[in-house]
Order: sequence, then structure tokens, then C-alpha cells
Amino acid sequence: MDDTATGLGDGPLAPGWTPPEIDTTKAHPARIYDCLLGGKDHFDVDRQAAEVVLKALPSAREMVQENRAFLGRAVRHLAEAGITQFLDIGTGIPGPGNTGDVARSVRPDARVVYVDYDPVVAVHSRALLAGADPALTAIVVADVREPASVLDNPAVRGVLDFDRPIAVLMVALLHFIKPEEDAPGIVAAIGEALPPGSAVVISHGTDGGDPETSAEARKGWDNATSQFTVRDRESITALFDGLELVPPGVVNVPLWRPDGAAREDWAGIWFDGGVGFKR
Ligand SMILES: C[S@@+](CC[C@H](N)C(=O)[O-])C[C@H]1O[C@@H](n2cnc3c(N)ncnc32)[C@H](O)[C@@H]1O
Repeated sequence: MDDTATGLGDGPLAPGWTPPEIDTTKAHPARIYDCLLGGKDHFDVDRQAAEVVLKALPSAREMVQENRAFLGRAVRHLAEAGITQFLDIGTGIPGPGNTGDVARSVRPDARVVYVDYDPVVAVHSRALLAGADPALTAIVVADVREPASVLDNPAVRGVLDFDRPIAVLMVALLHFIKPEEDAPGIVAAIGEALPPGSAVVISHGTDGGDPETSAEARKGWDNATSQFTVRDRESITALFDGLELVPPGVVNVPLWRPDGAAREDWAGIWFDGGVGFKR
């Protein structure tokens, strides 16, 4: 449709233009998450999905903010522990405080690869990271359900040296892996490819002990490109099998090494997370 009102035509300058590879008719986890975080990089269909979530679970906004804060603390912890390479799988739309920002605040020479299966994330990431040194940063579209598509990806290998420790982030990612898609097998395959001294960061949605509300909220993802599967603390801890958990282990994310006092109402944050080292 030509936009005669603006005279900007129907190309990239037209209001509401989206690249042809972006499907705006189906909600996407990255864009629902952006909406919950209060961002602006989503479409009506994503907003409608987020509304379903928020109607059942108004605290979902705080949950995603706490999850982002956990990501920041985990990356900072690992950078301070000496890790200079980060593989962020299920990046989401990168905003301020993304993995590279935090890692480079500690290690200015940190190498960071962002991986997501959603092309909209790649579009935003490329815009945000335009001008970044290609020796230190890459953006890759790949699906973690095929770990080899990440691990053997030439762009990943071009930036990260698999002979030196790498921190792999799968933050708020694995609840998009259905039970039959074998999340433990995916994490194990990634862990095997890493050298000793590497680390894995995982956060994951739980049902918060209220399965009915959780089921209602998760309907927000029913018609999205991936659905939401909750796992319990035991299953989330099992994802770290063979890794040495950093204290305090797998906990509600606000309780993972908080800066200062942890919020007292942490039980209302239905995300568990932890960090494990490969020794
Ligand atoms: C909820 S967002 C989390 C973003 C970020 N990691 C954070 O915690 O702030 C989940 C991201 O995982 C991505 N994702 C879901 N399934 C995926 C898959 N099979 N392979 C790669 N990325 C996936 C989604 O596109 C989305 O960007």
C-alpha cells in the first residue's frame, strides 16, 4: 500500500513498514517478552498475547524484569571470574543492559555472540549493534533445538575460540522447548562442546506452586511460534547435571546473588535460575 499521506511510499520509510521476513500475524516469544518488559518492538498480535498473560498474572512484568536483572548479575559474576567469551542463546530483542553491555563493563575486550531463532531479533540486534567490531561480536539466526546449528555455525566459531572458556546463556529460553524436544539433551550437547572452565547460565519459568494460574497465563503463548512449558525446581536443577553449581545453586532468580538485600516477596517471581561451571 502506497502511503500517499506521508509521501514516503510503501518501502522501508513508510509508517508501519516491516521487512518481508517478519511475520506480524503470529505472536513471537521475543516480542511478547519485549511487551512485558515495557519495550516498543512488538506488534498488535504480541500485545494481545501479553494481555492474556498479564490478565492471569499481573506480576508477569516484574518477573521478566527480575529475570533480566538475574542475567545481568550472572554475566557480571562470570566476567569478574575471568570469562571473556559469551554465547547468548535466545537473546531476545537486545536492550540496554544486554549481555555485551554488562560483559564489556568488566571486560572491554569480551567476545559476544547473540543467537536467536527469530529473525526479528536479528533485525533489531543488527541495528543496535551496527558499528560493533565484527571480531568481537556476531549475531546468528539458529535454533537451539539443533545444537549443531549453533555450535558448528561459522559465525559463532569466527568470534568464539572453543579452546578457551565460554559462558553460554540460556536465559528464559528453555521453557520454549517442549518436553518431547529434550531440553536436558540440548544442554548436555552444548556442555560437551565447551572446554573446562566454561559456564552455563539458565533461567526458566515455573508454575510458582499455582498450576491453575500458570496454565491460564501460559495461554498467552498458545498461538505463538513457541509454547511455554513450565518445569519444577528439580527438573531445572537437573539441566545442570555434570556442572558445578555456583552458590546458592538453583533458586528463585531474585535470590541469586542479589545486589544488596533480596526482595522479600521473591516467592511471587516464578523464575528459577542458576549458574554452573564445567570443571
Ligand atoms: C523470553 S526471551 C528471553 C530473552 C533474554 N534471554 C532474556 O532473558 O532477557 C526468549 C527468547 O528465546 C528465543 N527462542 C525461543 N525458542 C528458541 C529456539 N528454539 N532457538 C533459539 N532461540 C529461541 C525467542 O525468540 C526469544 O527471543
